[in-house]
Amino acid sequence: MQRAPGPSGPTPKATRAEDTASEPERPGRRPRAGSNVDPVGGDGRGRHVVLVGAMGVGKTTVGRRLARELQRPFADADEQLELRAGRTIPAIFRDDGEENFRRLESDVLADLLAAAHPLVVAAGGGAITRPENRALLGRRAFVVWLQASPAFLAARADPTHRPLLAGDPDVTATLERLIAARTPLYEEVADAAVDVESFHAGDDKPKRALARHIARLVGVPAEAPG
Ligand code: S3P
Repeated sequence: MQRAPGPSGPTPKATRAEDTASEPERPGRRPRAGSNVDPVGGDGRGRHVVLVGAMGVGKTTVGRRLARELQRPFADADEQLELRAGRTIPAIFRDDGEENFRRLESDVLADLLAAAHPLVVAAGGGAITRPENRALLGRRAFVVWLQASPAFLAARADPTHRPLLAGDPDVTATLERLIAARTPLYEEVADAAVDVESFHAGDDKPKRALARHIARLVGVPAEAPG
């Protein structure tokens, strides 16, 4: 499968929960015409898998489960950054400003993606804002963009740990603005896109279903249901 050539390339078509039911494992299937996403049996085998998407979409919890499915180590980039800095993300934003946070974020992402063995990585929602991060993702990772509506995200994103939302009287509107500004950047890096809400609507274990769905996108067939 060819990666999208850049910002002007085709937008990954978001796969939904229904696609898992209607399109079970068919490794090696060709991409749909007009899509840059191979919906089943992608080229993620042996590469890092990086989950991107807005705050509150579930990158960390789904990433942990996905790592179990793929039998790989998991790394949460925000958590790694806090460990390295010895401070929380709100403290870094407050004391050093967002630009310094973004520099640290780039360093952590570069170090994670330099690992010789393939990882599953949950990236911070804004990691795609820096061109060097997008270039690195393009070279080193199979990138899965988790999508959901601002209202869904606002109900899940805890603002106390997220300086861009803290004290905001209208978190939904802020998320809407951030998503609008960042959508072309997510499109630029994404090898696959997944509609998270459809899993929450249709499955009593949505995160497990999501992880298994993504495992298939990466190219590793899911185990028998259990
Ligand atoms: C941010 C997202 C956060 C964290 C920081 C900034 C963003 O990560 O990196 O608060 O710019 O969207 P999560 O997406 O994991 O919440």
